[in-house]
Amino acid sequence: MVNRRMFLVGSVAAAASGQTSQPTVGTGMIGVGNRGSYLLGGVLVQPKAKVLALCDIKPDRLDKAATTAVRDNPATYSDWRRIIDRKDVDAVFIAAPPDLHSEMAVAALRAGKHVYCEKPIGVTPAQVQAVIEAAKKSNKVFVPGQQLRSVNQYIEAMRKIREGIIGDVIMVKAQRHAVADLPHDGTSGDWYFDVNRSGGYLIEQSVHNLDLCNWAIGGHPTRACGFGGILLYKNDPPGRTIFDCGTISYEYPGGVMMSFTQNVFHPRAMPNGNQYIYVYGTKGAVDLMGTPTMYSLSGESKPVVLAEKPQQEDSHAHIAAFYNSVVNGAKPPADITVGATAALTAILGHQAMIRQQVVDWQRLGVEL
Ligand SMILES: NC(=O)c1ccc[n+]([C@@H]2O[C@H](COP(=O)([O-])OP(=O)(O)OC[C@H]3O[C@@H](n4cnc5c(N)ncnc54)[C@H](O)[C@@H]3O)[C@@H](O)[C@H]2O)c1
Repeated sequence: MVNRRMFLVGSVAAAASGQTSQPTVGTGMIGVGNRGSYLLGGVLVQPKAKVLALCDIKPDRLDKAATTAVRDNPATYSDWRRIIDRKDVDAVFIAAPPDLHSEMAVAALRAGKHVYCEKPIGVTPAQVQAVIEAAKKSNKVFVPGQQLRSVNQYIEAMRKIREGIIGDVIMVKAQRHAVADLPHDGTSGDWYFDVNRSGGYLIEQSVHNLDLCNWAIGGHPTRACGFGGILLYKNDPPGRTIFDCGTISYEYPGGVMMSFTQNVFHPRAMPNGNQYIYVYGTKGAVDLMGTPTMYSLSGESKPVVLAEKPQQEDSHAHIAAFYNSVVNGAKPPADITVGATAALTAILGHQAMIRQQVVDWQRLGVEL
């Protein structure tokens, strides 16, 4: 059992022992592109955080981030290992491209850092396995960037689903369709379209949706089959190796079924939205995304809103929860098991599409 004392390190420990009146968690940020800049903004508003170090291989992004964090006067690096080497860095945020997450997270955990690692935590089973092992050996906090786990209406809806409001969950139908491809010349255009770097659309993007599906079902799939392809954006951008669409079927314990589709050509004006998750139970179903709403199977009762979407959401709730775990030992809303299970669910679906075979979870060869 990890207790509160074990969380206190470096400047946090110094602060707790009264050596400084300003308790701080020395924080380093690796990768300050699109997502990393957003995370940096969230870190800067946390009362316990001090940004000591920033890293990016692109000088313009590093400069921009240093300007954003000028209050804390962070050091800047192009080599991420320099951040890990710093004794005064207690916590590391990783928002580099997905294929680098595992190596960086493992090094940070081994060096005794708390880690907030963007999703997916790895793009291959071996990468995910390495993070699991390092996180389990460490007594530090590991939070994957599955921030939907910190969204109140999902927490509340999942609680009601677990309590049996729709009976036993027996099927899920979900889709993540996008109204466009990511911009080919955009901030992540240099890695996103390479399947070995991003893992592809299912692993890089749908990992959020698949995590919600796992959460609603209460477990992970046992096998998957599916088809994927490049049907619209053929060789666009040139050298593209990620699919632009796919259909995957997953089976969960007890024969629970999930059907998932993805594409990047969903017209914006088409009704019913480009993303949804329908959770079907023995007594009714929940339309989960947005404002989770329950419909009873008998059709006699009116739809029931399970949890209202707040007027104003704390867009940095997941980051705040990370610091709450680091400083106060609170249970994080998402841990290594959540991050690994989400990534592996996506990897399983991806492998099924690539192999065009039924692929068993066991075949991934990863111990959760
Ligand atoms: N949780 C979410 O909702 C969410 C949203 C967007 C992106 N992401 C994730 O965040 C990660 C980054 O995505 P992005 O959109 O910010 O991409 P991006 O390309 O805008 O940013 C990645 C940054 O990492 C830097 N980088 C590359 N190699 C590096 C290295 N060796 N050392 C240090 N920095 C390095 C790049 O120069 C770039 O600035 C991805 O894993 C993505 O899946 C998560």
